[in-house]
Amino acid sequence: MEKFIIKGGRRLEGEVTISGAKNAVVAIIPAVILADGPCVLENIPNISDVSISLRILYEMGAEIKQLDKGVYRIDATGIKDPVVPYELARHMRASYYFLGTLLGKFGRARVSMPGGCYLGDRPIDQHLKAFSALGAVCTLENGMIDICADSLIGSQIYFDKITVGATINAMLAAVKATGLTVIENAAKEPHIVDLANFLNSMGADIMGAGTDVIKVRGVKNLKGTSYAIIPDQIEAGTYMVAAAATRGNVLIKNVIPKHLESITAKLAKIGVNVEEFDDSVRISVDGPLVKTSIKTMPHPGFPTDMQPQISTLLCLAEGTSIVTDEIFNNRFRYVDELRRMGADISVEGRVAVIEGVGKFLGAPVTAPDLRAGAALIIAGLAASGVTEIDDIYHIERGYEDIENKLRALGADITKKTVPGNSVRKVAL
Ligand code: EPZ
Repeated sequence: MEKFIIKGGRRLEGEVTISGAKNAVVAIIPAVILADGPCVLENIPNISDVSISLRILYEMGAEIKQLDKGVYRIDATGIKDPVVPYELARHMRASYYFLGTLLGKFGRARVSMPGGCYLGDRPIDQHLKAFSALGAVCTLENGMIDICADSLIGSQIYFDKITVGATINAMLAAVKATGLTVIENAAKEPHIVDLANFLNSMGADIMGAGTDVIKVRGVKNLKGTSYAIIPDQIEAGTYMVAAAATRGNVLIKNVIPKHLESITAKLAKIGVNVEEFDDSVRISVDGPLVKTSIKTMPHPGFPTDMQPQISTLLCLAEGTSIVTDEIFNNRFRYVDELRRMGADISVEGRVAVIEGVGKFLGAPVTAPDLRAGAALIIAGLAASGVTEIDDIYHIERGYEDIENKLRALGADITKKTVPGNSVRKVAL
C-alpha cells in the first residue's frame, strides 16, 4: 500500500504544466474501436484509468504501441468479440463507454455494471434509455450489461437529467446508426466537445456538441485518425486551488482559460488573483480569503469535480461558506477526514456549511475517492505539520505525476510504500 507524506506550510511557487483530460481520454480511447484503421492519440495522461482502458483494448485484441511520452498508436481493427473482460471493467466507472462504442461498431456489447462509487446514486437508466431509443435491447445478467440491436436507427433522445456519461454513450452508439439522432438536454462539458471533435476527425457527422442539442447523422464508415486530447480542466482547477491554499504564486500552463471560467469566477470571489493568458493562468493571493456560496451545476456551471477542492480552500477563508452539490448526493465523505485536520464543517444531505477556521493541522487521513484525495493533498500542503494520506491509488487514477509536479512547485511531498493491502474500492 502506498501513501503520500506531506510536510505542509510551504508556499507553492513556479510553473506547472497540465496533462491531457482524464474525462475526455476515458471516452476517446474506447471510441477508437469505431475506426476501420489505426488511430494515433497524443497528450494521453499517464494515469491508471488510461492504463486500464488501454489494457481492456489490448485484452480484446487491439494492437497498441507507445510512440512517445503521451503518444499511442492504437489499431483496434483486430477486435471481433464485443465483450469487455469483467475483472478489468468492474473497477473503472468509465468502462461503460465500451457499451456505446461496441454497440455502435458491432450492434452488440457486454460490459460489467460500472462501479458506482461513494458519490451517491449513480444509476445508468439514461444510458439504457439512449440505447433503447436507437433500437437496442438491454438486459442485465450476472453483473453484466448485455446490449444488442439488429440495426441501429437514428432517433430522438431526450435525457430526463443532464448526464455526461449518457451523452457520451449516446454519441458513440449513434455515429454509425442509420439516419439522424437528436440528443436533447445533452451535457455540455469540454470533454463532450473533445469526443465529438475526435469522432468528426474520423469522418463522423456530429453537430452541436457543447450545446444542449447534439445532432448525429449516421455514417457508414469511420477511418483511423490522429488526435490530441484537450488539457484537463479539473487538474488545472486543482492546482489553482492548491496555489491559493498555500498563498503561493504559480503559473499553470497548457490550459484553455474558457474551460476554467466558473472556477476562476469563484476563486476571484474568494479573494484569489487569477491572471489569464492565452494558454495559461497565474494564481496569487495578496489579501485575506473570504467566504462565498457555491452550487455545483452541469457545465458551464461550477463543476462537481472541483467541489472537494474548493470546500477545502473555504476552510481557510474568513466567515461561513455554503457549498451545495446539485450533481451527486453523497460527495462529502472527505469532510470526516478534513475534520481530523481541524476543519469545522457540518453536512446535511447535499449541503455543507463551512466555518472558516483559517488553518489546518497535519494528521493521518485516507482518500475516499479521486477528487476527495486531491482535496486532502491541498489541506496537507496548507497544514502546519505532517499529513499522511492513505489509499492514494484513488488520486493516481486521475492526476498524472502529482507528486513530482507538486515537488517542482516547492512542496515537501514524498510517496511511501507500507506493508498491507489497500482495500480496493470501486473507482468513480
Ligand atoms: C462523469 O461521471 C465523470 N466521470 C465524473 O467525473 C463527473 O463528476 C460527472 O461526469 C459529472 O460531470 C467520467 O467521465 C468517467 P453523470 P458520470 O452521468 O458520467 C445522474 C471525476 O471526478 N445520472 O453526468 O457518472 C447521476 O446519478 C469523476 O473525474 C442518472 O440519474 O456522471 C448524477 O446525479 C467523478 N442516470 C448526475 O446524473 C444516468 O443514467 C450526473 O451524472 C446517468 C446519470
